[in-house]
Amino acid sequence: MARQELKIGVFGFGVVGKGLYEVMKQSPALDKAIKKICVRSKKQRDLPESFFTYNPDDIINDEEINTVVELVDDSEAAYHIVKKSLQKGKNVVSANKKMIAEHMAEMIALQKEHNVSLLYEASACGSIPVIRSLEEYYDNDLLLSVTGILNGSSNYILSRVFDNGQPYEVALKEAQTLGFAESDPTFDVEGFDSLYKLVILTMHSFGVVINPDEVLNYGISNISDFDINYAREKGFKIKLVGQVERLRENKITLFVLPRFVGRDKYIYAVEEEFNGVVIKGLAYDKQFMFGKGAGGHPTGSAVLSDITALMHNYRYEYKKTNYFQGFSYFKDAAIEIYLRYRDKEVLSHFDFQSVSEEYRGPKNSYVIGFIKLSSLMAIREKLRDKQLFIAATGKALNY
Ligand code: HSE
Repeated sequence: MARQELKIGVFGFGVVGKGLYEVMKQSPALDKAIKKICVRSKKQRDLPESFFTYNPDDIINDEEINTVVELVDDSEAAYHIVKKSLQKGKNVVSANKKMIAEHMAEMIALQKEHNVSLLYEASACGSIPVIRSLEEYYDNDLLLSVTGILNGSSNYILSRVFDNGQPYEVALKEAQTLGFAESDPTFDVEGFDSLYKLVILTMHSFGVVINPDEVLNYGISNISDFDINYAREKGFKIKLVGQVERLRENKITLFVLPRFVGRDKYIYAVEEEFNGVVIKGLAYDKQFMFGKGAGGHPTGSAVLSDITALMHNYRYEYKKTNYFQGFSYFKDAAIEIYLRYRDKEVLSHFDFQSVSEEYRGPKNSYVIGFIKLSSLMAIREKLRDKQLFIAATGKALNY
């Protein structure tokens, strides 16, 4: 197919927008392709004022602009920008994982209805081309699971806390200063960012639209010195991990939880703002993708890759939505967790199926045992209680 000339309208000029602009300057094929950048307010910027507009319609209604790059922070605003642009027949690149995860079905339908392409490689794992790989290379039924560190900020914090003994709050501030964290960093540290990315990866792994609200996500903000010491003594690191796994009978399970990770795992060595994704399948066993998961330039490079793909008329085919009779989301899978608590009243909320280890200490105690994901979902608000911390051990019951 012939190469398409792109005229680009960009929404947003924050960390990723600027990153994209700087990356594009190094790409002679595209360095003149941006026609307008829509921002919220006037500010001193390095680009001529004539580049900017404050009215979204200047891009949406510009017939010459055939490609919209949406890089705004607000997912509600992103939704309207992307929807209107697709309806206007423009191809779109977006990095907004919350918007895409929450509106996946509609976004797929809009692409079909208006015969346009929406690409979002930058929405999951920054510079790692995981979505396109799942879509194109792992486009058969051998795939068993996708497991990974999907959030750069929380990984940066955990690295600093574990390896440099830095206080959690200091590490979080650094992740913000370096432009890794979301404007509301609870998104990162409570596992929401990982959750949205996991939902997107699940679509491209198993062809299932999952409502993010129905998936367990639990982050790292309750981690204490006790937990860190426990992990260290056992030779583990604690990583925030998202996982989607194929079970028997066309079922899948997925969740985001901190996890004890031993040296034998690929993600053990993933530090700082890097992400790492382990893809497991029949016949090929395990493969590992590694790269920078956050920051203006790495994320900008993923956006650039999508823009280039649009030049060649690329679109996601969502082939896996047609597999077999489709996979269904099984919420009752049981996993083994470590629960650290202070007040033993906490235990009454946890419906453990079996307990393999228990420790009672003067200040902190813990239980290790199997519990259903659905029963953790039922107490998801309770899990935010500052008195406790949970982490997956990595063991699961085989369904
Ligand atoms: N806040 C995100 C992260 C940015 O830390 O991974 C990249 O999606």
